Amino acid sequence: METVFNKPKFSWEEYFSDKKKGGHRYSTEEFLYKEAKEKLFHLSGGKSLLDFGCGAGELLIYYVPNYERIVGADFSSSMLLEAEKKMWQQNYKNVDLILADDETIWDRLNISFDRITATAVVQYLKPEQIDAFIHHAFDYLNENGKIVFFDIIDPRLYSLWKMGWFSQNFRLWEILPKTGFGLLKQVSAILKNRPRDIIGDAYSPYLIEQIARDNGFKMEYVKSMYYEYRYHAILSKI
Ligand SMILES: C[S@@+](CC[C@H](N)C(=O)[O-])C[C@H]1O[C@@H](n2cnc3c(N)ncnc32)[C@H](O)[C@@H]1O
Repeated sequence: METVFNKPKFSWEEYFSDKKKGGHRYSTEEFLYKEAKEKLFHLSGGKSLLDFGCGAGELLIYYVPNYERIVGADFSSSMLLEAEKKMWQQNYKNVDLILADDETIWDRLNISFDRITATAVVQYLKPEQIDAFIHHAFDYLNENGKIVFFDIIDPRLYSLWKMGWFSQNFRLWEILPKTGFGLLKQVSAILKNRPRDIIGDAYSPYLIEQIARDNGFKMEYVKSMYYEYRYHAILSKI
């Protein structure tokens, strides 16, 4: 019999196994183009790019014309299939798509990169996975290379956002019931062996900076332009 204590373990890989979109605020071409432009600005050049957790290629499609060589990787085959369709429609030939996760990706690469990026992916990794990712990425970066983690959830701003502080109809007196309801939802998720929040984990920029420093990188912190509770971490070798 299934009880609170023997519920099957939740896995993000399973969660994403049938997903076909990356969950951007809007999925219009106009919005994705603007979002990609912001990202390209922070990627600031380079000729080769690894987009880890590329998903359905919603941003990758805009990166391709700016790079000579691109690799997209994801552990969801349904997402990769969508990415593949987009590349095929545009007849892009300089893209390789690889089915891999944060551990297996490194053995599958046969080149190193000027830029290694990941958008809205850090939230699905545990701190030890982020540490291992940065550690491995160090060896796959060319001279003057950068790792750019886009749209990490900032726990400070996310809690305010969830309470409604950024919404047009914000009412101070609604905070308490909202917070209480939020806490109840978290307890219920934990009891069901699901993540506390289906958006993934939030990480303070100080934690990411510490992990980066431990692995020989310095970190630049940049506020996300289109997601008010997220930030970007731009890492370059010390
Ligand atoms: C929120 S979506 C973002 C997709 C894409 N980066 C974008 O911005 O459109 C997160 C993606 O990361 C992938 N992902 C999460 N954890 C992963 C892991 N450990 N290894 C490989 N892919 C992962 C998921 O399959 C999903 O496609």
